[in-house]
Amino acid sequence: MAAYEYETHEYDVVVVGAGGAGLRATLGMAEQGLRTACVTKVFPTRSHTVAAQGGIAASLSNMGPDHWQWHMYDTVKGSDWLGDTDAMEYLAREAPKAVYELEHYGVPFSRTEEGKIYQRPFGGHTTEFGEGPPVQRTCAAADRTGHAILHTLYGQSLKNNAEFYIEYFAIDLIMSYDGACTGVICWKLDDGTMHVFNAKMVVLATGGYGRAYFSATSAHTCTGDGGGMVARAGLPLQDMEFVQFHPTGIYGSGCLITEGARGEGGYLTNSEGERFMERYAPNYKDLAPRDYVSRSMTMEIREGRGVGAEGDHIHLNLSHLPKEALAERLPGISESAKIFAGVDVTKEPIPVLPTVHYNMGGIPTNYWGEVLNPTKDDPNAVVPGLMAVGEAGCASVHGANRLGSNSLIDLVVFGRAAAIRAGKVVDRDSAVPSTNTASVDKAFDRFDGLRNAKGTIPTAELRLEMQKTMQADAAVFRTSKTMKEGLDKMVTIAGKMDDLKVTDRSLVWNSDLMETLELTNLMPNALATIAGAEARKESRGAHAHEDFTARDDENWRVHTIARVEGNQIDLTYRPVVKDPLTTEEQGGISLEKIKPKERTF
Ligand code: FUM
Repeated sequence: MAAYEYETHEYDVVVVGAGGAGLRATLGMAEQGLRTACVTKVFPTRSHTVAAQGGIAASLSNMGPDHWQWHMYDTVKGSDWLGDTDAMEYLAREAPKAVYELEHYGVPFSRTEEGKIYQRPFGGHTTEFGEGPPVQRTCAAADRTGHAILHTLYGQSLKNNAEFYIEYFAIDLIMSYDGACTGVICWKLDDGTMHVFNAKMVVLATGGYGRAYFSATSAHTCTGDGGGMVARAGLPLQDMEFVQFHPTGIYGSGCLITEGARGEGGYLTNSEGERFMERYAPNYKDLAPRDYVSRSMTMEIREGRGVGAEGDHIHLNLSHLPKEALAERLPGISESAKIFAGVDVTKEPIPVLPTVHYNMGGIPTNYWGEVLNPTKDDPNAVVPGLMAVGEAGCASVHGANRLGSNSLIDLVVFGRAAAIRAGKVVDRDSAVPSTNTASVDKAFDRFDGLRNAKGTIPTAELRLEMQKTMQADAAVFRTSKTMKEGLDKMVTIAGKMDDLKVTDRSLVWNSDLMETLELTNLMPNALATIAGAEARKESRGAHAHEDFTARDDENWRVHTIARVEGNQIDLTYRPVVKDPLTTEEQGGISLEKIKPKERTF
């Protein structure tokens, strides 16, 4: 048994991750007087939310008529009827409140002439339950909305005495004998010390796992750490086959060009200079949802109408927009286009390509953020002491496809919901659970085994093999053959984890070891993704199956539940929540409005 000394900390709540969801949860907990720690592997304002550009969806009606029910309808349709209806109602209803709170906390939103929060159009957001024109629902701080939110929430969390443990890497959850979560074990990266955080509630806000793929808009830190810890604790992941490709990653670098660029009037063209989205989505054109636009772009390229020397990408045109509008509304992407594509957006189109951007799947939760461990008898069984919010979690509001700007609102609505719930279920007067030493020893054994790994394969080599396989075989379009091959390859790749070679044995700033720990987290996420995709015999949202091109609600309107142990994946299914929170008589949406139908734009 590996012996590591450790320092013990006790809190009511420990939040793991300091992106938008983690900070909103931390702030909400601290405001209520819960003793709250936030542990994070990067400095809070460097969390990946800082890269969120275009904005945050809420039906404020600042630019024209809007209604929370229209937002809910768009989210239901956007999800291709896989989202949980109660969670989608909660998101749309609470969104305006959550955004006004952000405004009052100090987020410097862009403003209209009258001083209201500026809102821009985004894909899939419409009026009149999809019958009216696009709506301006996405609240923006220029094209740096995530940056603005992150800085504000960090400042407010400090003001409310939340305690931050920065550059602490979470190794594993501490679970009690009866299946409750009682804390988390961390490695302090800058001095090599070990820390056990015991808590009455642990909140995973660790973000997505975009780095399971070769080309992603996600930061290199997006390694699915929460999903990895959950899988090792014997808990499941949900709907992992639904991976969002953002239509406009810069060709080559994958750097994000916000959908706000199309919201402000930008449009896509093929090698013939044609605005091809008019053919695929006659009503909403470039403002159709992302799965639609990404597929349309891929089809243009496949059919020989891609741009560039190899005909393998598409043009995003902004040069017709007024220079002042570009400078005021899209300064960040103007700069990114210059740096990463050498393009002056006032004169030339940006070369773009659908790029992995977001994971709709994650750790299953209810709409309070409580983690679920579904059983045959109870598909909604809650894991005591454990919550998951933001991209790490799956509430599930995005179902099979997320609408742009519904991510930032998901972060703050469900970060806030987790705090509201914790305020009710965490008993401030009870003792903090004591350390389960068996769970801690197990985690240290795993850590020590990786630290001293003497195999033959460097971590970076195996990671690349995984990334290339996922990129090729869990792509925008998928076939039975490619997914079967991808699954077989991924099982083999995961099997090589026992043959990893780590060369640096130190404990201080050991990036070799940290990346190895991250790979152990990426791997179960990737396995669950490809296995879930291979098993799902239909097309829905981001899962475009070329051998089963239709959506099949009779057999497949279900959540995939994946349990991963080593390179073994066990799949079961859980029913979608079809009932909203409120009935029409109580002021809720009419069931007739949200019943499944063909999804056209
Ligand atoms: O296009 C964007 O600005 C990204 C927004 C989102 O993913 O919600």
